[in-house]
Amino acid sequence: MTRATMTRREAIALASAMGASLAWPPDLSAGRWAPVERRDLFPQGVASGDPTSDSVVLWTRRPPTAQGRAVRLTLEVSERTDFERLAARGEAPLSADADWTCRVLAAGLKPGTVYWYRFTDEWGGSSRVGRTLTAPDDADPRPVRFAFVSCQNNQLGACNAYRRLIWEDDRAPRTELVEFVLHLGDFFYEVLWYPEDRPQIYSRKVRDILRYPDGEKHGDFHVPTSLRDYRALYCAYLLDPDLQDARARWPFVCMADNHDFSWKGWQSQENYGEGILPAQTRKVAANQAWFEYQPARVVHSGPGELAYFDPPTVSDAPIHNFDDDGLGLEPGNLAAIGSLRLYRMLRWGHNVDLVLTDNRTYRSEPLTDRPKVAPFRPAQFPGVVAQDVTEILDAGRAYRSGNPPATIRFGGTDFPNPRKDSPPLSMLGGPQKEWFLNRLRESGAPWKLWGNSVAMLDWRTDFQNLPESVPLKWPTTGYALFGDDDWSGYRHERAELLKVVRDERIPGLVTLCGDRHAFLAGVLSPTPEAPGAPVAVEFVTGSISAPGLFEALEYGIPESHPLRPVFVYRNPSSGANDPAVNLSMTSGVRASLALSETHDLAQAIKVKNPEVAPHIAFADVGGHGYAIVQADADALRVEFVCVTRPLERRDGNGGPVVYRITHQVERWGVTEGPRLMRTSWVGVLPLGSVNQSQRFGRP
Ligand SMILES: [Fe+2]
Repeated sequence: MTRATMTRREAIALASAMGASLAWPPDLSAGRWAPVERRDLFPQGVASGDPTSDSVVLWTRRPPTAQGRAVRLTLEVSERTDFERLAARGEAPLSADADWTCRVLAAGLKPGTVYWYRFTDEWGGSSRVGRTLTAPDDADPRPVRFAFVSCQNNQLGACNAYRRLIWEDDRAPRTELVEFVLHLGDFFYEVLWYPEDRPQIYSRKVRDILRYPDGEKHGDFHVPTSLRDYRALYCAYLLDPDLQDARARWPFVCMADNHDFSWKGWQSQENYGEGILPAQTRKVAANQAWFEYQPARVVHSGPGELAYFDPPTVSDAPIHNFDDDGLGLEPGNLAAIGSLRLYRMLRWGHNVDLVLTDNRTYRSEPLTDRPKVAPFRPAQFPGVVAQDVTEILDAGRAYRSGNPPATIRFGGTDFPNPRKDSPPLSMLGGPQKEWFLNRLRESGAPWKLWGNSVAMLDWRTDFQNLPESVPLKWPTTGYALFGDDDWSGYRHERAELLKVVRDERIPGLVTLCGDRHAFLAGVLSPTPEAPGAPVAVEFVTGSISAPGLFEALEYGIPESHPLRPVFVYRNPSSGANDPAVNLSMTSGVRASLALSETHDLAQAIKVKNPEVAPHIAFADVGGHGYAIVQADADALRVEFVCVTRPLERRDGNGGPVVYRITHQVERWGVTEGPRLMRTSWVGVLPLGSVNQSQRFGRP
């Protein structure tokens, strides 16, 4: 909808459907109104989200103070930092019902324009001035440029990546400014350690950022149990100066991942390793807090005219019945997951459609924690599962076109196949999957960018090729996958989606992911074992601060463990631990073992297994930072910017950049597949990434 067609009446309807107040172009200029900036009254800062070409959602929080309890805020939006002329003005109520947060839809704006905004209370105390940008007009052919990020753990690290992003944007030419930040989830980590229980994790000193008012302890960590707990998490995280500055500088487009509700959460259920914990009330609480603290065009199930989330009444009940998409039919489960719909689509100009899916709320119970899957865990091999077994368990009765095996051989024993008669797992659930595929089919944009929170590229190694000298035997003849909690464990549905893309000839699909705490780039095929015919491209960003796989292995695998050289390379010249796991992932375990024996990378590459990762163009499971996308009509480029391990906050520029690397894919036609190229890099690339070929996909 452009400004010419959006009426005030329509804007009111849109705002109320979103549970937001409305700000609209005023009849008069600001007049003699002279607010005084009082950041202390707005401790969580300001934010904006989900811009379209004529509107954006604006946010703040103004809790009561000793001086007064504000019940109404005035919002002003202007193209000028002095607010002399206003583009929009509105009022919004404040109350304890929304934890003193405030959402306003600023409408009637111009496309592709920078706006400044501030909130002011009844006594003239105003928030910091925020900046936001509307999306370009639907026909605008100019390149779109944005950052994507995920996984910030303020307890274990610092948001230096945001500081770096801000510092660089301050110095960028006008044509290279970041227009928005796509946040793919794990906005916080709800698993909290209190320092007296565990003062140190890996290389990280545990920061004491919050005590839950109602939390619950599992093992040595604490989890939220109530709305108060989830709200407290947002409040604590948003005190971070770098996160707060980023939210005040760019509109954010946010999708929840697991930790925004619960570490091993699926639908409305939790699991802390002691079996399923029904958590319908916690899912509703997580949804309500997300709605209150993330400015986004999402739909809650309460009456549309209310500015407040209307939580359904549910109780924590076990789920006994599931449909063929794995959806639990218990009424409280349906009400809890139906209380907020996060999946949505946004558009930037002619070039970009951004489709966001919710990969946690509708998914079948993951294989990982199912008791019947326990016999298939390769206990001696840390952090991995068997790819061939996962394929059978995930597909269930649909395996090999409806011919699942009765037994599965694992470690020399034939175990009954526990999922022989069960439907395949679903990540998206039926209705969301249909919605998603229809968005892809209808999109006319050159680039269909999928905000896909969890990754699709198989990250794996070849433990089946371990030499006899290693005193461990991999239990199957197939590959080892690094986890089955993402699309690696929902392989049947991954193939189903990519087959639609192939068969219906949908070009330009690029999936943007977080969750893995790793930088990865590669090509996707309906059958990953035949990567010569890719149909899409994927980029995974490293975490802002949460520890990655390499750090977990570096600190978790003893020096004496026979597999340590597969994961960690002790570099004799620098004395540092290097991520051999990258090399094992891209070249196979024999390459890493050869490196540890010869200290000669060329020797190591000579014994490379070319079949372990023909689909991977780049892998670094030790890096942190962010990614920058630039999309124009002809090509899409993604730059990974890796910063040093963010143990302490780095003021100024966020600290040094370790490397930057750019991959590019040119627009491909309906009869072609994508070809991914490494186009430039600077800095010190991580172990395992230097000797890779520079071209992937279509020859
Ligand atoms: Fe994460």
